[in-house]
Amino acid sequence: MRNEAVVKDEVKAKVKATRGKFHLESYGCQMNLYDSGLVASILKNEGYQPTDSVEEAEILLLNTCSIREKAYERVYGRIESLAHLRRKNPHTIIGVLGCMAQSLGKEFFSSGLPIDFTAGPDNYRLLPDLIESASSNREQSQTGLSLLHLSRSETYDELRPSVVTGCTSFVTIMRGCDNFCSFCVVPYTRGRERSRSPYSIVDEISSLPNVSEVTLLGQNVNSYCWKENFHFHDLVELILKETDIQRIRFTSPHPKDFPEELLDLMAREKRFCKQIHLPLQSGSSSVLRRMKRGYTQEEYLSLVELIRSKMPFVGLSSDIITGFCGETEEDFQDTLSVVEQVGFDTAYMFRYSERKNTSAAKYLKDDVPEDVKLIRLQQLIQEQQKMSALKNRLVKGKKFEVLVEGYSRRSQSSMTGRTDSGKTVVFPLEEGHQPEDLTGKLVQVEIEGSTSATLHGRELTTCLKIT
Ligand code: 5AD
Ligand code: SF4
Repeated sequence: MRNEAVVKDEVKAKVKATRGKFHLESYGCQMNLYDSGLVASILKNEGYQPTDSVEEAEILLLNTCSIREKAYERVYGRIESLAHLRRKNPHTIIGVLGCMAQSLGKEFFSSGLPIDFTAGPDNYRLLPDLIESASSNREQSQTGLSLLHLSRSETYDELRPSVVTGCTSFVTIMRGCDNFCSFCVVPYTRGRERSRSPYSIVDEISSLPNVSEVTLLGQNVNSYCWKENFHFHDLVELILKETDIQRIRFTSPHPKDFPEELLDLMAREKRFCKQIHLPLQSGSSSVLRRMKRGYTQEEYLSLVELIRSKMPFVGLSSDIITGFCGETEEDFQDTLSVVEQVGFDTAYMFRYSERKNTSAAKYLKDDVPEDVKLIRLQQLIQEQQKMSALKNRLVKGKKFEVLVEGYSRRSQSSMTGRTDSGKTVVFPLEEGHQPEDLTGKLVQVEIEGSTSATLHGRELTTCLKIT
């Protein structure tokens, strides 16, 4: 007679091995992309198989974003376009994950869209159970299920999602946000801030196969804190010491409490890239006050001055919103003026859209007409594009070390990579050079031309690993 427990395990393993195929789509930020990696690893551990084909999948998952109205529209459109699969195969299950699921939860089920379950960002460990319950619910024609708990401790520490593109990878170091900027839904969809253990971060980076560069992710990396006194710069130092990763980047810090130790570390460490994404949001101090950003125009500008005094060639980028509540033409001119004074290399620009639960939605009037928001946005984009093009023109003839990430998007005879300051460089593959030999390596490239988004150059030498 065989042991009952052994038989049970065998049966369990068999059930696992025959579980269905899932198709997972990710919308929104890098953090969501990383979370999609977490979801995939949780499901694969339970015997589900990933597939790129929606037709082939029994489980369709959308990992959604809720930062702006546009993100909602995209997801609604996508679910509508998947509805025919449900009509074709009544066993197909559709689940909505991520920030939009957290924000809308059960509301989704009355939208008329074919959705079986919703799960917020802190509930992914329970996804296998949720999928099983959703299946049996469907058979009994019951309505959808929601898991919307916001955790104070979940960091998915031991999971290794391996979100690798070419030779670069994202690694989440913290989750949630405690800043409560008045326009932002993130604290309500991703919950309170919590930092991940430094040991698991180092372990994850060390375990990434063939990765030369990591980008450390957090809503506000400045407030990374482990056991009360281990801060973000301590974490970067630890990663530099304990791993042989060639380059480290991060996103995003908050301008209100930028630690000087981090700048000093960045200035002296070659493997710590000189690139800072520093969300401005608005150049007007009165708008910044209403946004609850915790800094003024002058403080932002002095921070930029401090950064440049330590690293003159740092790459600076930003996030900027037009048309926030009460923004006057004068406020907007302040934003244009800061953009001109700072000279960002790039910027992500948005028009304000009111989000549920935020303090702006509760206490401020969304009073800038949509057409004004849009006109200001277009003007801002135009100014920034001019600035980016000008900055790129200035580096013509200069030589940069570029970490090669793979083929360029447009051509298989060109390679692409990034400079230390984060600029994208495209260069033709030299005769006799194999793409696979260059990917993940540092090469010297001389810049010969540019657009507002990209530098173009020619390869000089293949460099050695940074030590
Ligand atoms: N409307 C427009 N843009 C927003 N962002 C965040 N919330 C909103 C909103 N309600 C922008 C901010 C943030 C970036 C990720 O998205 O600029 O830094
Ligand atoms: Fe949103 Fe502000 Fe937190 Fe960034 S820092 S995620 S803008 S609340």
